[in-house]
Amino acid sequence: MSLSAASLIEASAALDLPQAIRFIAETGSTNADLRRLAEQGAPHGSALVAGSQTQGRGRLGRTWLTPKGSLALSVLLRPNLPLAGAARMNLAAAVATSLTCGDAFRIKWPNDVLAPDGRKVAGILAEVEARGGRVDFLVVGIGVNLSGAPAEVAQATSLQAVDGQIRDPNAFAATLVQRLLHQAHRLEADPEAVLQIWRDRSATLGQWVRVGALQGRAVALDADGALRVEDFEGGIHRVLSGDVEPVAMRNGRIE
Ligand code: BTN
Repeated sequence: MSLSAASLIEASAALDLPQAIRFIAETGSTNADLRRLAEQGAPHGSALVAGSQTQGRGRLGRTWLTPKGSLALSVLLRPNLPLAGAARMNLAAAVATSLTCGDAFRIKWPNDVLAPDGRKVAGILAEVEARGGRVDFLVVGIGVNLSGAPAEVAQATSLQAVDGQIRDPNAFAATLVQRLLHQAHRLEADPEAVLQIWRDRSATLGQWVRVGALQGRAVALDADGALRVEDFEGGIHRVLSGDVEPVAMRNGRIE
């Protein structure tokens, strides 16, 4: 099964999406493309899927590789949110993505989706544009390794490698857009409900972790999306961004 404009339109129509999903065979980055469309006034719910990307963007300025079998998708959101609430959209996107991937898949703070062995199957990059202290628009870019993962990234795997299921990328993309729009809407009305699903699907809470120079146990997710880490002296630290790496503890020491 491969992506096509016709199959995406069919899959979106079946789910009653507000906008038909656009398909582009190859592009630099779907996030960059959708940002341009947003600046030209594209509506909430506009979505773009690419067959391949040559300049995929990852979190923290990294590159994101989109090999064959990997889905690259961006969705435009125009929520009614203060800028301070935008970070939580990362969590809503992670909830939507992990639910679409399946029960076996868990969320690493803030928004990576992991296989049971800790390898990454999906990543999310939300880019925000603000006006007067409020969100003007958000472009939420999601990369999912459906049946293929970049061979050069040891810590990556695909959904199919984990559960053996062959997924139709068109139906997967349409379902993911629908779930993202649903969770984004819910975040405005009842943020705690979305955060609670995030907590229930978290691979990070309860783990021993390292974030930059900080080491300790990830103990909670705050209402604003910050991760609470308790260090060895009992000090509580709020982590707002960065890479959280799980660490092994042996005889009371981190290895
Ligand atoms: C991460 O670093 O984990 C985030 C990866 C986000 C990749 C997706 S693929 C579709 C969209 N377009 C991009 O250029 N990046 C995002």
